[in-house]
Amino acid sequence: MKLLVTGGAGFIGSAFVRLTVNSTAHRVTVLDKLTYAGNLENLASVDGDERYRFVRGDIADPVLVNQLIGEEAPDAIVHFAAESHVDRSILSPEPVFHTNLAGSFTLLEAARRAKVARYVHVSTDEVYGSLDEPLEASEEFPLKASSPYSASKAGSDLLALSYFTTYKLPVLVTRASNNYGPYQFPEKLIPLMISNALEDKPLPIYGDGMQVRDWLYVDDHCRAILALLERGREGEVYNIGGSRSLPNLTVVKEILRITGKPESLLTRVTDRPGHDRRYALSSAKIERETGWKPEVPFEQGLVDTVNWYRTHADWVARVKSGAYRDYYDQNYSGRAISS
Ligand code: NAD
Ligand code: DAU
Repeated sequence: MKLLVTGGAGFIGSAFVRLTVNSTAHRVTVLDKLTYAGNLENLASVDGDERYRFVRGDIADPVLVNQLIGEEAPDAIVHFAAESHVDRSILSPEPVFHTNLAGSFTLLEAARRAKVARYVHVSTDEVYGSLDEPLEASEEFPLKASSPYSASKAGSDLLALSYFTTYKLPVLVTRASNNYGPYQFPEKLIPLMISNALEDKPLPIYGDGMQVRDWLYVDDHCRAILALLERGREGEVYNIGGSRSLPNLTVVKEILRITGKPESLLTRVTDRPGHDRRYALSSAKIERETGWKPEVPFEQGLVDTVNWYRTHADWVARVKSGAYRDYYDQNYSGRAISS
């Protein structure tokens, strides 16, 4: 197959491109704007492969998107590109709506016109909102968004499904839980805590730290998407979870244990506005229909991830320079709570 992968220079998109080029015969064209989160270093290992092409551009630019789809005639589109961070979406919602809503719309329209034969829209478990114990969201659960990020993902998720219902565009929607692994931008919990711990910096815990997330190793997520590209049913939604629900504080203490750093680095900060308490989802449908299951146990994945950040200090230093420092100050300064 010829794949058009949007957001392929980001964390999950680049893992998907590396896995696809290395383990399948598919050809991959990446369309990515290279925002603060996009990084060509993440794709260096496939650069030069004749089955890989990179195009820099905005998914919300209809001229570019129509031209690229006309030129490439992809058999399938896998749509990862997004503004993906909840805290940034709270500080500055406009880019979130530009990319996640207007961009997703532009891409769907171009795919419809070109009659693309397969379209995977990458959504998130955040669209189900916070769930009380012991609930686990199935794909039929109502959507309930709390942040500008999750509202934009819920909107684009429904828009994608409407293109199947209305225009018969062969869309599949995936809703994955929290990913972690190499090359994740250090604004998200796990890479931020690992890189701060390795630099002996404070680890900012929002509120009481008892919010629960379900952790999925990034390569397991990418294998799930490959399985759905081959065997998923059109018009369907598939949850993709890691089957490993943990409170944030447990995850961060485990990072301190692996890095050998003291718990005195833990710093309580004021909570995220509208913070969802608990995400939980059932992956029974994708497991039943495709045979996929998460393969990487959290303990192993976390040790591997810490090792990756330890051995990629140059990548981290480059990513954490410049605009990252401004973001960090904007999000964290003045929030420490003295206990
Ligand atoms: P990321 O922020 O690491 O990467 C996003 C990529 O999209 C970057 O390369 C960026 O340059 C690109 N991009 C942003 N705006 C663009 C635009 N207008 N045009 C073209 N490219 C643009 O994100 P991620 O964590 O890899 O997430 C990828 C997708 O997976 C997103 O759709 C996200 O909502 C979804 N998702 C993420 C998680 C998670 O835990 N990270 C979990 C479930 C679903
Ligand atoms: O659930 C899937 C979603 O997971 C994806 O759709 C999003 O793209 C991805 O960013 C992620 O959203 P979260 O808000 O759950 O991830 P984040 O890493 O920002 O935060 C995880 C938890 O850790 C959350 O409860 C907030 C908390 N946290 C986060 C940061 C950055 C802290 O306590 N301190 C922090 O500094």
